[in-house]
Amino acid sequence: MSSTNDLAKELAEKRCEEFIVLAESQTSGRGRNERSWYSPPGGLYFSLVLRPDFDFDKYPLIGLAMGLAIAQILDDLGIEAKLKWPNDVLVNDKKIAGILAESKHNYFVVGVGVNVNNYDFPDDLRATSLSTELGDVLSTKWLMVKILKSFEGFYVRILKGVKELIDEYRGRSSLIGKEVEVDLGNGTVEGRADIDDRGRLILTRGGFRRVVGAGEITKVKRAEGGKNR
Ligand code: BTN
Repeated sequence: MSSTNDLAKELAEKRCEEFIVLAESQTSGRGRNERSWYSPPGGLYFSLVLRPDFDFDKYPLIGLAMGLAIAQILDDLGIEAKLKWPNDVLVNDKKIAGILAESKHNYFVVGVGVNVNNYDFPDDLRATSLSTELGDVLSTKWLMVKILKSFEGFYVRILKGVKELIDEYRGRSSLIGKEVEVDLGNGTVEGRADIDDRGRLILTRGGFRRVVGAGEITKVKRAEGGKNR
C-alpha cells in the first residue's frame, strides 16, 4: 500500500463510518511537514478514521491522546517513553513512533507508525524500534490492539476531562519547562515550553506568551541550562 492515511481519507469521503486501515508496509508513507515515513515490513502502520462529536478546536487533542496511548503501552512493556510535542514518541531521545493527524470537514484521520521489528534505519534517522529495545520480536497486530484499547481510555477524556489528559501529557513530555526553539515555517520563535488545554504549545519569554498551533521543535535546551540538542 502507498499510505494508510491516503487510503483512509479516500474511503472516508465515500462512507460515513469510523474504521481502521492497516498495512504491513507502505511505499509512500508520509510523516509530518511533508517528510516521508520509513515503512518497511516489520513495522506497524495504521490509520484510524474518527468522526468526533466534540468541537473542532479539540481535534488536536486526539493526536496527543494517541501519543499517550503508545507511551503507556511502551511503559507496560518496560520501555520508558517520552513525548515530544506534538506527537513524537521517543525512547532515549530516539524516535520509536510518529503520528500524522489530518482532518477534513467531518472526519479526523490519525495515522500511526511504530518501529516494531525493524533493526536498521537510514543514517539520517535518529530512530529505534521495540525489538531493538526489548531484544525480542513482537506481533504488530497484538500491539495495535493494545494501543487502540489504551487510546480509547484517553479519547473519552477529551470529552470528560481534558485537564486530566493535559496533566498526563505534561508528565510525559520531554519539553515542558525547557527553553525550546520552534520552526514555524516562516521563521523561528523561542521560549519556555508549556501546553494549553487545546494541545497547543505555549512559549513564554520575557513576560510575553505566544501560542503555537503548529510547528517543528528544532532545539531543546537542557533543564540545567546546559547545551542544546
Ligand atoms: C511523523 O512523525 O512525522 C508522523 C509519522 C506518521 C506515519 C504514519 S504510518 C501510518 C500512517 N500513514 C502514513 O502515510 N503516515 C502515517
